[in-house]
Amino acid sequence: MSGPDDAGAPRRMLHGRRRGKPMRPTRQAAFERRLPELRVDLDGVAPGTLDTAGLFAHAPSGIWLEIGAGNGEHLAWQAAHRPDVGFIAAEPYLAGVGRAIGYLEAAGTANVRFFVDDARLLLAALPEGVVARMFILFPDPWPKARHHKRRIVAPSTLPAIARVLADEAELRLATDDMGYCRWMLALLTGDAAFEWCARGPEDWRRRPEDWPQTRYEEKALAAGRRPAYLRFRRRARAAA
Ligand SMILES: C[S@@+](CC[C@H](N)C(=O)[O-])C[C@H]1O[C@@H](n2cnc3c(N)ncnc32)[C@H](O)[C@@H]1O
Repeated sequence: MSGPDDAGAPRRMLHGRRRGKPMRPTRQAAFERRLPELRVDLDGVAPGTLDTAGLFAHAPSGIWLEIGAGNGEHLAWQAAHRPDVGFIAAEPYLAGVGRAIGYLEAAGTANVRFFVDDARLLLAALPEGVVARMFILFPDPWPKARHHKRRIVAPSTLPAIARVLADEAELRLATDDMGYCRWMLALLTGDAAFEWCARGPEDWRRRPEDWPQTRYEEKALAAGRRPAYLRFRRRARAAA
């Protein structure tokens, strides 16, 4: 289990793969060439102080964060549709980041940066209220009870997620694992910082127009599983 260490900072907690099959030579070359300028480096960054606007060539209108972006299909679509926004993708899987960089290069998209590590470390470095929208789409479900503590949407991460989200920010979650779906709903609806945006079943059964399909969603549908699409609003903080 992660949990804060003695200094209150989260420990790295990665259980999935970081390396897949070797990348194709052209992808590997693009990855090596582009990653140094695209990577978010937390060396020397005190908790809560990452200069997010400074990561981008032009000051973004807002910061959107995708945790577990996989191969980056959703990320690339969102970034191309919102060139005014600065996107940060937290994804420790190197081959996924390689693919995502390929999509962004092909589209000429310049507003994405990558944190190639455990999203928990990034969450701790982000200033309060800086994220205007967050996506956690088809996170690893860790269905066995003894592995639930590995889940990225968890009692240990929810306070950090709520802290970095701006007032009225949207949090989008998706899963095809009904156990994880119930877990997410119980956690989020039990937290005063969040309000579930659904007004009826269609709101969580149907993916909104501005939410493209991800690779894992495609796999889930092909296997006959019906995903849930959950949208939450981060309630405004009480006035001081
Ligand atoms: C099941 S895949 C889903 C990928 C993508 N969102 C999709 O729907 O196709 C889960 C992703 O979360 C990433 N991941 C796992 N642990 C993570 C962590 N601690 N921080 C950030 N990403 C993580 C994995 O590397 C993987 O790419």
